[in-house]
Amino acid sequence: MSSFIRPDLLTFQAYAANPHDETPSRKLDQLDTNECPYDLPHAVKQQITQTYLDQIQTNRYPDSGHGDLKSAIAGYVNEAAGLDTIGAANISVGNGSDELIRSVLIATCLGRPSSILVASPTFSMYGILAKTLGVNTIEIPRCELDWSIDPERANAAIEQARQEGQPVRAVFVVHPNSPTSNALNATEIAWLETIADDTLVVVDEAYYEFSRQTLVGQLRSNWVITRTFSKALRLAAHRVGYAVALPEIIAIFEKIRLPYNLPSTAQAAALTALSHRQTLLPVIDEILAERDRLATALSSFTALRQWPSDANFLYVRNADETLNLAQLAMDLRSQGTLIRHTGGGLRISIGTPAENARTLANFQTLLKI
Ligand SMILES: Cc1ncc(COP(=O)(O)O)c(C=O)c1O
Repeated sequence: MSSFIRPDLLTFQAYAANPHDETPSRKLDQLDTNECPYDLPHAVKQQITQTYLDQIQTNRYPDSGHGDLKSAIAGYVNEAAGLDTIGAANISVGNGSDELIRSVLIATCLGRPSSILVASPTFSMYGILAKTLGVNTIEIPRCELDWSIDPERANAAIEQARQEGQPVRAVFVVHPNSPTSNALNATEIAWLETIADDTLVVVDEAYYEFSRQTLVGQLRSNWVITRTFSKALRLAAHRVGYAVALPEIIAIFEKIRLPYNLPSTAQAAALTALSHRQTLLPVIDEILAERDRLATALSSFTALRQWPSDANFLYVRNADETLNLAQLAMDLRSQGTLIRHTGGGLRISIGTPAENARTLANFQTLLKI
């Protein structure tokens, strides 16, 4: 490979999405990426299509300021949290929240000695994006009992990085965490509140609509909350995420993002989905009930260890060392169920009742119960 490429990228492992359709005749149950199992209702899709036909000029660039979308998002954030403090100036919109994670890294770390802190297992994109930018990632392990973060351990890692001249500029936490599905507990939140002003705290609330827990009402000057339209709002295909923070932080994100980062169709889809949220979000009750049903059923498999979930997915590991989880994930795939083997365990997204029933039956077959 030519020497103009950074040597570290030659061995770099990119995010690996599961291939979904190796045999086109067979449709797998896609329980590997934590999306909502339901497509948008036809009428809502039709409305997006009509907007495309009537209002979007394909020869023109998208609205680069995202003004309408930011206002609509601010309204949604306020409404759901019972606030009236969030305005468009508190919102930055990204091409998926992945783009906002990259903005955080650019804004805090790039071009100077820096690290980010993550608690593993957690969402892999923090470390992956950090690597692409040459940013150092410090990983501390979570406590296996409940997957919480030990504040003392985290503070020690932050102090060590400072002494080694690669200070932690951003701490990434997920509320609730993926893949382990636990929301932040009171001790963790109290710890986040003690993190010094020279470090940005990123609270990733990708699964907020499922956990119904948010820190948006406690937003501090060195915090940013990221969210996505890819999960409960059913727009994974359109790639829309947003950040909520003080206007001073948002202004920096706005400076460093690409000018036309969100296509006109994605902006229209996000606005339309938000305007239909009263129709789209009630299905969450069904998903949570299905989650609890599947969790109870899976708890009868003694080979699996399971933790309570605050999200739309379950996380299981080996109860002892008898089970090969990588093999189990492959066998489930051969049976038609796609789940994710990640972070040393299996993450199972909650699907439709029919998908969950098939998943359970496949577990029963493979674990011989
Ligand atoms: C914790 C977490 N954050 C962010 C994302 C990415 O969301 P988006 O589709 O908005 O890029 C995901 C996607 O799985 C996630 O699990």
